[in-house]
Amino acid sequence: TILVLDFGSQYSHLITRRLREFNVYTEMLPCTQKISELSWKPKGIILSGGPYSVYEEGSPHVDHAIFDLGVPILGICYGMQELAWINGKGVARGEKREYGPATLDVQDQSCPLFKDVDHSQVWMSHGDKLSALPTGFTTVATSDNSPFAAIAHKTEKIYGIQFHPEVTHTAKGNLLLRNFAVDICKANQNWTMANFIDTEISRIRTLVGPTAEVIGAVSGGVDSTVAAKLLSIAIGERFHAIYVDNGVMRKNETETVHKTLTEGLGINLTVVDASEEFLGKLKGVTDPEKKRKIIGNTFIEVFERQAALIQPKSGEEIEFLLQGTLYPDVIESISFKGPSHTIKTHHNVGGLLDDMKLKLIEPLRELFKDEVRALGEIMEIPHDLVWRHPFPGPGLAIRVLGEVTPAQVKIAREADFIFIEEIKKAGLYREISQAFAALLPVKSVGVMGDQRTYEQVIALRAIETTDFMTADWFVFEASFLKRVASRIVNEVDGVARVTYDITSKPPATVEWE
Ligand code: XMP
Repeated sequence: TILVLDFGSQYSHLITRRLREFNVYTEMLPCTQKISELSWKPKGIILSGGPYSVYEEGSPHVDHAIFDLGVPILGICYGMQELAWINGKGVARGEKREYGPATLDVQDQSCPLFKDVDHSQVWMSHGDKLSALPTGFTTVATSDNSPFAAIAHKTEKIYGIQFHPEVTHTAKGNLLLRNFAVDICKANQNWTMANFIDTEISRIRTLVGPTAEVIGAVSGGVDSTVAAKLLSIAIGERFHAIYVDNGVMRKNETETVHKTLTEGLGINLTVVDASEEFLGKLKGVTDPEKKRKIIGNTFIEVFERQAALIQPKSGEEIEFLLQGTLYPDVIESISFKGPSHTIKTHHNVGGLLDDMKLKLIEPLRELFKDEVRALGEIMEIPHDLVWRHPFPGPGLAIRVLGEVTPAQVKIAREADFIFIEEIKKAGLYREISQAFAALLPVKSVGVMGDQRTYEQVIALRAIETTDFMTADWFVFEASFLKRVASRIVNEVDGVARVTYDITSKPPATVEWE
């Protein structure tokens, strides 16, 4: 395992990502991690970049014990300045920020970090830079603006680089990271998904022990299904999955989830139909944030009520709560002030932890979304489920704009179903990151047969994105949109008009509410 100590750079998680791409397992911890508190010994350490200046008061610093481990160390950007700071100053405030491409000139061809990396383009993004060599180091590479683009210790395997090898704009960044992890640190290249399943299952068994029981919510999405399947393999019936029908689910959702998880995957699942309770509380509410709160709180109430009905065989109380938290959720909450495992407010089950005195199990907390999907494929979770678009916790309630009534939900549900069905038929589902229909609280005039109609408007939305922070609308062929619009107006009662949303995020968001 390679340890990445995170100083808060926006690129930190990419370091982990790149190393895993060549099957080296990597863990990222906050930069203030005490080495004496680590339960394992890393084969190498990477200090990430970060937005601070090493000489400023209050800026984060690494535990000096990293130098006593005798393992190779690579400092990237802030990480390199930190190495220089510890080994005798030499950090200057950059006169101007350097941001963008630079060409690397490798001076010392014998440096193993730069094997096959010479004269390639690298990506710079920094304010400070070295003004002199720290004690014991030599210059390995330069660039036009950075006389110390890379440095290495004369006797120890300690390296510093000013540029970011983890971003794709650094042409040979992957190679450099591989040189470090595999050649210099001698890290094993045995991180695979199949491997992960075995390790995780035995970890869960040890954690839970021979009698304790675990409860967890499933939503029909890939994360909670994969997490539930892992638990089910590890402890069988001692894992209790609960699915709450909140009345604002997609068409056929509850039946499909029930069938897939129980018959298909053998998960011990209870389906709770709480539609009336949710819809009752949503009556008259139009404010999107209020809708979210009501759904989140009601979910917790229903889940807790159901949990109380479970009688563990051991006679003890339920001890653990399963959460499908992914790596990006975890790293979002790591900062140099220490890790705080806060769950995104938009995570439906966040509030459960405070109320129920349960310990957390998060089997996916080290994985990225595409790794979870790979895991799902290996565990033979149906393809359709593994590749499903994300669906918000508040469901159709935030896609029915304005008041959520059963009649309005029905219209949104039917329209959404047709849109997704056509997308799948056209073979476009996997090209699109998320697609749905929103029902607008606007009436518009139409004409059907000889009759004048006055009904609502459906807005279709389909986006492409990698991280959901920014997104672009998907370009459909006109004939596709024509077909969908005609089907929706003809088949869904209450819709007179269909529009397609052509706004990117930003300035718009993905959802309409
Ligand atoms: P926005 O609309 O914020 O959406 O651009 C970004 C992604 O987040 C999803 N989303 C939610 N998911 N609860 C959720 O679980 C919510 O309240 C919520 N709001 C938005 C949205 O579907 C998209 O994938």
